[in-house]
Amino acid sequence: MSDVVTLTREGPIALIEINNPPVNALSTAVRQGLQNAVLEAEADDAIMALVIYGTGRAFIAGADIKEFGKPLQPPFLPELCTRIEACPKPVVAAMHGVSLGGGLEVALGCHYRIATPDARVGLPEVHLGLIPGAGGTQRLPRLTGTERGIEMMTSGRHVKAAEALEAGIIDEIGTASPRENGLAFATRIIEEGKPRRAVSELPAPAAVDWDAAYAATLKKGRGQLSPAMVVRAVQAAAEKPFADGLAEERRIFLELMETDQRKGMIHAFFGERAVSNLPELKGIDPRPLTAIGVIGGGTMGAGIATAALLAGLKVTLIEMSDEATEAAKGRIASNLQGALKRGKITEAKFTKLTEDALTLATTYDALADADLVIEAVFENMDVKKDVFTKLDAICKPGAVLASNTSYLDVAEIAAATSRPADVIGLHFFSPAHVMKLLEVVVPDAAAPDAVATGFALGKMLSKISVRAGVCDGFIGNRILSTYRAAADHMVLDGASPYEIDKVMTGFGFPMGPFAVADLAGLDIGWANRKRKRAEGLPPGMRDSSYADTLCEDGHFGQKTGKGYYVYEAGKRGGTPNPDVLPLIEAERAEKGLTAQDFTADDILARYMAAMVNEGAKILGEGIARRPLDVDMVLLFGYGFPRYHGGPMKWADMQGLDKILADLDRFAAENPEFWTPAPLLRSLVAEGRTFEDLNKEG
Ligand code: 3HC
Ligand code: NAI
Repeated sequence: MSDVVTLTREGPIALIEINNPPVNALSTAVRQGLQNAVLEAEADDAIMALVIYGTGRAFIAGADIKEFGKPLQPPFLPELCTRIEACPKPVVAAMHGVSLGGGLEVALGCHYRIATPDARVGLPEVHLGLIPGAGGTQRLPRLTGTERGIEMMTSGRHVKAAEALEAGIIDEIGTASPRENGLAFATRIIEEGKPRRAVSELPAPAAVDWDAAYAATLKKGRGQLSPAMVVRAVQAAAEKPFADGLAEERRIFLELMETDQRKGMIHAFFGERAVSNLPELKGIDPRPLTAIGVIGGGTMGAGIATAALLAGLKVTLIEMSDEATEAAKGRIASNLQGALKRGKITEAKFTKLTEDALTLATTYDALADADLVIEAVFENMDVKKDVFTKLDAICKPGAVLASNTSYLDVAEIAAATSRPADVIGLHFFSPAHVMKLLEVVVPDAAAPDAVATGFALGKMLSKISVRAGVCDGFIGNRILSTYRAAADHMVLDGASPYEIDKVMTGFGFPMGPFAVADLAGLDIGWANRKRKRAEGLPPGMRDSSYADTLCEDGHFGQKTGKGYYVYEAGKRGGTPNPDVLPLIEAERAEKGLTAQDFTADDILARYMAAMVNEGAKILGEGIARRPLDVDMVLLFGYGFPRYHGGPMKWADMQGLDKILADLDRFAAENPEFWTPAPLLRSLVAEGRTFEDLNKEG
């Protein structure tokens, strides 16, 4: 008997226990162990029923994702599930924690399912670029019906025990331990002489308009293939005999396994978990964190305070005047109203958070006991230095002092204090209580445990925290500036903003760069252009001023109803603003530029080359430590399509030599802007990839 699966006997019941920490993934050893245990119990005449259950945190969290991409070893999961279902003695799955993917599929192969009240089930394979590959698409809709089955598998959501019971996925909720639940259920089956109930023998799910469901799912997934292929697999369940449906499911599963989308999604899965796990912070304890301060209660300060309150922290917020304090309180209350409406908090909790956990003040002495303070005042170095000087005077020793600055030099801010080791950047994204990304900006002088405290805060707030070094724009905004400039250059040279937006949404971004600019407010870019013109444009950066005219006329994008697009009240999205193309043509004429044709491929190549090249420069300079750090910033802060894995993973899959060749070609026009990053050149020369750098840690 294997170590990970054990078989014990309790009277006529075989108890098959899975013990493969941390989440009982179905590794080859577990599959083998399960198969052997089932065969052994089946052959034992004294056994009348079998119970399968897991130890630790989960029944089974699914196939072992680490084995994907490697040659699969027998026994294969679909056959194992079929084998379990074929057992002539009743088999009971006694579930707790999560039963996901192959885990739920094993349970669906059993004849009965009982779960603890806190159990969750789901088929989340689409999040890995796959469909369920061990009978899930065939068995689940036989229990839930077509529509709920498709909804569960295309969303990949976790379904709680109560809903699973109502949907017919489980047969009973039991409040004892999984082992005891299973034992009691199996005893009852034996006593009552209940027959086996094989899900594969239930009627096939009903037909729907498959083509319409496929097209709608593809559109909703912005080009992600796997959810749409769930529809095709369920169609097979409805139209074919069970065994043929199973074969069709397996064919689609194996086909998706070979796609770049699957590789991208799995890179994202592991990247998301690895990104906050910094080798340099191993063994370093964060400082205690129960009360935090926030300076400035505008868009960002209010969002940060909201996130902290929802995470159970005490928050003291400082504003400049009583009116500003009231306005900040209003913003926080309105954010929390959103959580209340979505059922995330109760009315009582809302009152507790706004009345007890939140303190508002106009003087800094209220921060004397704060463990960590985040400054979110105006983006101005003198104002920030003034705030940090005051914090230095009032905060207790060991308090972490953080700035939410978007672009400013955190080391310079730290130098305004007598304790630069306690100063870091905590760069949140707007809206801060919604967006998952947090850049933890680490100046050279920062103490490791201050940095660890920044990551600990990120974890408490359920953020994806990424380490960034100090530079203009850190990781995300610096890359954004570059690909945004590439888009502006293309507009000057002949592409239209609408073509560029279309290509980038076609690539999978929720919005193109010009629609994003309308959302953020064109005044921000306008101010930035003025600042850059005053400082002198960076080498290779071409000035583009047609959007200034929009701003001068009071058009700032969505908030004024007009920008690159025109927005009508009550309608989602906008239509192209007819004033924009003439403005662009006028600027081209003034600059003596002749419009060139850009194909969709040209646009994509330039946009992505700019993004990848800046990412490589950032890596070469040590601003980001690992390519996966860059990937996670773009994924969680900038809407980069998860199924491409992130820009560096995408570049690997395209071939770095191809990206370099594109850059060399573009550099012939504008060498300063398109100079290939030295790191990219050396990786190509050595035949290595960004993934190789991830592995080096
Ligand atoms: N295979 C291998 N490792 C897995 C795993 C899996 N299926 N699921 C989780 N892990 C690992 C994680 O990588 C992590 O490892 P680490 O500690 O070394 O970083 C560890 O288990 C704990 O995971 P989390 O940090 O994510 O812990 P949480 O408690 O936050 O979440 C979870 C647990 C809900 C199980 C979450 O990990 C999860 O959603 N896992 C993926 C589940 C999934 O997608 N299953 C389907 C797999 S595909 C499949 O089954 C194909 C089949 O249809 C043929
Ligand atoms: P905002 O203008 O909405 O809010 C700033 C607030 O700070 C105002 O309410 C103001 O009254 C207050 N304030 C100014 N000086 C103060 C002082 N000395 N003491 C106390 N309060 C003071 O600005 P926003 O957008 O919230 O930005 C704040 C910071 O966050 C900036 O550094 C910005 O660059 C950064 N940031 C902004 C993002 C965004 O999308 N808006 C995203 C990420 C970072």
